[in-house]
Amino acid sequence: MNLSVPRRVGALAAVAALAATALAGSTANAAPTLAAPDIPVANVKQHLADLQSIAAANGGNRAHGRTGYKASIDFVKAKLDAAGYTTSIQQFTYNGSTGYNLIADWPGGDPNQVVMAGSHLDSVSSGAGINDNGSGSAAVLETALAVSRADLQPTKHLRFGWWGAEELGLVGSKYYVNQLPTAERAKVSAYLNFDMIGSPNPGYFVYDDDPVIEQTFKDYFAGLGVPTEIETEGDGRSDHASFKNVGIPVGGLFTGASRTKTSAQVQKWGGTTTAFDRCYHSSCDTTSNINDTALDRNSDAVAHAIWTLSAGSTTPPGPVFENTADVTVPDNGAAVTSTVNVTGITGNAPSTLKVDVDIVHTWIGDLVVDLVAPDGSVYNLHNRSGGSADNIKQTYTVNASSEVANGAWKLRVQDKATYDTGYINGFKLTF
Ligand code: TRP
Ligand code: ZN
Ligand code: CA
Repeated sequence: MNLSVPRRVGALAAVAALAATALAGSTANAAPTLAAPDIPVANVKQHLADLQSIAAANGGNRAHGRTGYKASIDFVKAKLDAAGYTTSIQQFTYNGSTGYNLIADWPGGDPNQVVMAGSHLDSVSSGAGINDNGSGSAAVLETALAVSRADLQPTKHLRFGWWGAEELGLVGSKYYVNQLPTAERAKVSAYLNFDMIGSPNPGYFVYDDDPVIEQTFKDYFAGLGVPTEIETEGDGRSDHASFKNVGIPVGGLFTGASRTKTSAQVQKWGGTTTAFDRCYHSSCDTTSNINDTALDRNSDAVAHAIWTLSAGSTTPPGPVFENTADVTVPDNGAAVTSTVNVTGITGNAPSTLKVDVDIVHTWIGDLVVDLVAPDGSVYNLHNRSGGSADNIKQTYTVNASSEVANGAWKLRVQDKATYDTGYINGFKLTF
């Protein structure tokens, strides 16, 4: 038995129960994560004023196929080029007009782990589109400029995108993901979407998608003491849907569109029981149609997410709890378990609990494998997939954030078909 005390500050008592061993978590190569800067809302508002001037100089809008759209693209691109980004304009055709996406890469970082943030830059034709979606476009732009000012050198590669023709059906973002080779899609570890984040009668909505991204935003607002709700005003109605459809983890923020704020929401956020944005898709969506506090908080949340998610692992992995005792899995028989006893952890398990499963078996299509939390909650890891393949030696990531960490965690394995057999070789949890 290999038993040692974890080296982390606030070291946990190592516990050996049955054959379970608590191993040291590694602190070796965890770089400290720099806090994101406060994004100056005055800068974000200046971008909105500039977008409004662009609309005014181009017939009052920044819509797909109109001169105000291309002028908006050129405006954003010039700022990014001056800040050291590698930019490219991607052209597509829709409704007989040329559309444009703008992509900006921040040099450096792991090309196999790309964190992306984006927003649609087009307006509807009825107005300047300052909340929808100058707000998201300006916050992403100012965050990108803040990355340059800080000379941020994150572990992961950063990419920013401004999409065309969202208002006509997510056209630009669909074009972007469709032309992205499958191998490149697989490298995008997160896409963050910002569409309408300065609504004049704001709510604070977080997309209910990838749990790590969602938690990153929720943590930020919790730190401000601002309650959030899950976004429900038309899931899939913005560009994150294009990324989600090809399997990329997504998240984002939203302050509400034409739906009416309830009295319960007024209680928690202030404002009135009217539309979140009474100027949604209208000519009055101007710089007057912005709540500065919402724009400020959401812009800071964009930066927080970019800094946090691109830093790689921010807390050293560990502690680790492991059971290496073999457990025979009876052929087409009852479920068996391997237990690890977790102690010394305050609060709940992480949203990224790593479950290392090591099962030796000659036909994994026979097997149902679950992680069972101390309170009996079941997280299925494997359900008779994989056919005749041998052995399950795999790390699963489980969102166990609703479970108390301490207690007896079980790996439960059942063989549900006759002939092939095997055993649990080991089971490890990394908190
Ligand atoms: N641009 C979006 C649209 O016009 C606005 C919107 C509505 C939205 N519901 C949403 C954006 C939910 C994000 C999430 O459809
Ligand atoms: Zn929009
Ligand atoms: Ca069997």
